[in-house]
Amino acid sequence: MNKKLGLTALGAALALGLTACGGGGAGSNNDTADADPGDLTIGVAMPTQTSERWIADGEAVESQLEEAGYDVNLQFAGDDIPTQAQQIDQMITEGADLLIVAAIDGTALSAQLQNAADQGIPVISYDRLIRDTENVDFYVSFDNYKVGVAQGTALLAGLGVTDKDGNPTGATGPFNVELFAGSLDDNNAGFFFNGAYDTLEPFIEDGTLVVKSGQTSIEQAATLRWSQETAQRRMEDLLTSSYSDGSVVNGVLSPYDGISRGIITALQNAGYGTDAKPMPVITGQDAEIASVKLIQDGVQSSTIFKDTRQLAEQAVTAAEAFLEGEEPEANDTETYDNGVKVVPSYLLPVETVYAEDIQSKLIDSGYWTAEEVASGQSD
Ligand code: BGC
Repeated sequence: MNKKLGLTALGAALALGLTACGGGGAGSNNDTADADPGDLTIGVAMPTQTSERWIADGEAVESQLEEAGYDVNLQFAGDDIPTQAQQIDQMITEGADLLIVAAIDGTALSAQLQNAADQGIPVISYDRLIRDTENVDFYVSFDNYKVGVAQGTALLAGLGVTDKDGNPTGATGPFNVELFAGSLDDNNAGFFFNGAYDTLEPFIEDGTLVVKSGQTSIEQAATLRWSQETAQRRMEDLLTSSYSDGSVVNGVLSPYDGISRGIITALQNAGYGTDAKPMPVITGQDAEIASVKLIQDGVQSSTIFKDTRQLAEQAVTAAEAFLEGEEPEANDTETYDNGVKVVPSYLLPVETVYAEDIQSKLIDSGYWTAEEVASGQSD
């Protein structure tokens, strides 16, 4: 039973009083169990519109909540931390009954979430774990460590060091690889990198893989805000510093399709992508349409498909449970310690997509149409 929603009449009155003192928020979030969904508003805070996946997430959460009858206040923060904090403040002021938050910086929302908790507003952390606060009630995401394992395996399989299930083929290389990680303020970045590194490490140790730059720590590999341009610049720097001797890069671990596209641009500018100098094996994540086309065209090797429609569905299921005065069902109560507590989580599975899987995994499931894949643009 969620304590926040299980308030007694006295507690409810107190919370109402607090809301009123706090400057006129309309939100009494304590009697939602008896409320008509049409009288309830859910604030949905998404990080950015520069990446398709977050637009798709935002739209999927909004439409599924609206189908369930709720009012929705959906905001994107342009990857700017103060903007996201201000948007959440405003959602609370305007009387949100529940918040669904995909944080830009997982540690930067403590004040907002304290405010939410003081008013009995449940908070669902969406895809990225919100850290360093007790005021987060539930986490919906994918199995982020497995995403990393899948990326590491896809790199190995692309190089022919293992098969797609990770069984070694006996190939000994040596293959030159470089490693990229995501934004360090996103809790997921560590899970992805650790999953991938644990998978690659035995082959780095036995010399099959050589990280020629020597940059193997997550701090060295990180890409602030998951920026495509930052990744392009780092790849350019790596080519200059470590591959000016005529050696070539054979593989690049990339945690996200946007980063992969930056890496690809740097490589193409350096003459990769010809018979004499083939494109390295490059991984990715999110099945963004521009990258799915690059996979179809044989430029990028793989991506990790995370079905945002299913994630939205889990967020909506969890939201409904809270608003009906119940606890959402978790399938993991151990992995996601946010620094203050272990946040009960619902984790979804992920799938690796190579060129030969585009039809069965992305088109047949209705995620993208054949036309979108052919053009590399969403409709
Ligand atoms: C998400 C990934 C995404 C990345 C960049 C992560 O938190 O889990 O799916 O690629 O952010 O947007």
